[in-house]
Amino acid sequence: MQLPYQIFDDFKSIIRTRLRLLAGDATLAKEEGKAGNTLAAHPLLATLSEAELHILLLALLPQVAPDFLNNAILEAFPGGGDLPLLGGVKGESHRGLLPTGETALAIFAGENLEDRLLLQQLLQPDERLAREGLLFLETVREGEPPMSGRLIIPQHMADFLLLGRESAPRFSPGFPAKQVTTAMNWEDAVLAPATRAQIADMGAWLEHQHKIAADENLARKVKPGYRVLFYGPPGTGKTLTAALLGKQYQKEVYRIDLSQIVSKYIGETEKNLEAVFRRAERKDWILFFDEADALFGKRTNVQSAHDKYANQEVSYLLQRVEDYTGLLILASNFKNNLDDAFVRRFHAIVHFPPPNVQERLLLWQKSLPASLPLDAAVDISELADRYELTGAGILNAVHYAVLQAYEQKATGLSQPALMAGIRKEFLKEERVV
Ligand SMILES: Nc1ncnc2c1ncn2[C@@H]1O[C@H](COP(=O)(O)OP(=O)(O)OP(=O)(O)O)[C@@H](O)[C@H]1O
Ligand SMILES: [Mg+2]
Repeated sequence: MQLPYQIFDDFKSIIRTRLRLLAGDATLAKEEGKAGNTLAAHPLLATLSEAELHILLLALLPQVAPDFLNNAILEAFPGGGDLPLLGGVKGESHRGLLPTGETALAIFAGENLEDRLLLQQLLQPDERLAREGLLFLETVREGEPPMSGRLIIPQHMADFLLLGRESAPRFSPGFPAKQVTTAMNWEDAVLAPATRAQIADMGAWLEHQHKIAADENLARKVKPGYRVLFYGPPGTGKTLTAALLGKQYQKEVYRIDLSQIVSKYIGETEKNLEAVFRRAERKDWILFFDEADALFGKRTNVQSAHDKYANQEVSYLLQRVEDYTGLLILASNFKNNLDDAFVRRFHAIVHFPPPNVQERLLLWQKSLPASLPLDAAVDISELADRYELTGAGILNAVHYAVLQAYEQKATGLSQPALMAGIRKEFLKEERVV
């Protein structure tokens, strides 16, 4: 479904009229009734009130007609000037005016206080526009009126309205999450029995949560959402497990690397993550926060202004993590790096230990290529026994050995090739074979 372009022609005439009214042009009667009807008739937007629709179209306008707002304002106010009533900010790369909450208020409510407050209400975060992920108001610096924030339509939603298809969210500073998928299956994963049992519990939640939500007694008492901490050394299958859960229960998994997004620009992190949480909640994603210690590490004393903001961000995230209604996984290499108060809020704490000898043997067996036989001289149970590698390490070692074999036009995987792969893995961790 896609908005017909003629909607914007009608809408432009509404805005022109409104602006001229605002400028005191008494010759104009309110004549936009006709256009208003065409807009609301569009099925996609049928549930929105006229006021909501107007705000939405206003926010879309810079993407459809970049010069329209500036020109229309100049037309109505030929004298120009600062016109603070009209709000709006200049973009960094967009050269036209970007409408803010104030712009919407001025155009659609003028100076009538009652109307302004009604419109202002529609822009609150718990109202339909924001709740349904259609549009929200940019958060502004403390002390600035909230209505001076830009009207933001998430880009995938704008694409849906303008191009007729919802785009997959793109990884960007404004949307710091990436989808995680895997071609592997549960049979490929080698996990300790205790780990596996806890993952089964997570599966039970994914499978039956809706029944809890529908139970009139439990629904009141049990908060929606399930929070789990994964901890263990690199390469033990934490990300893999998250991806496999998503695959099994047909939910998209999105990974947010906290070490990457704790922003140089203090205060930005919060705003960017908010976009991810909103979308995730609407789509019932599994959220996977990697490198959780970057943000949820043991809290330090507040020293600099930067720390103060960092702590604010932590408080925001703690709250958001607790309120998330779906499955949320945090991953860390060390449990002890995490704040205790924080750890207590998890439903489960799942350890991914380095694999033991038997698990390593299974990992070796499952990692071998299907099309290249093992030389008769190779004893993988000895390799499993002698070299303490993780699942990722074993796979990497085999991968390296296989490439060596192809390079050397060998007919099988040899002991020296495998040893070279193992040595390479040990070197990465500055260990010696
Ligand atoms: N337990 C395992 N069973 C089977 N394969 C594994 C296992 N652990 C790791 N692997 C292999 O190694 C790859 C990388 O592992 P993964 O990314 O899941 O590790 P991780 O625990 O998330 O590590 P990090 O802490 O570095 O993020 C997996 O895609 C898989 O191919
Ligand atoms: Mg990982």
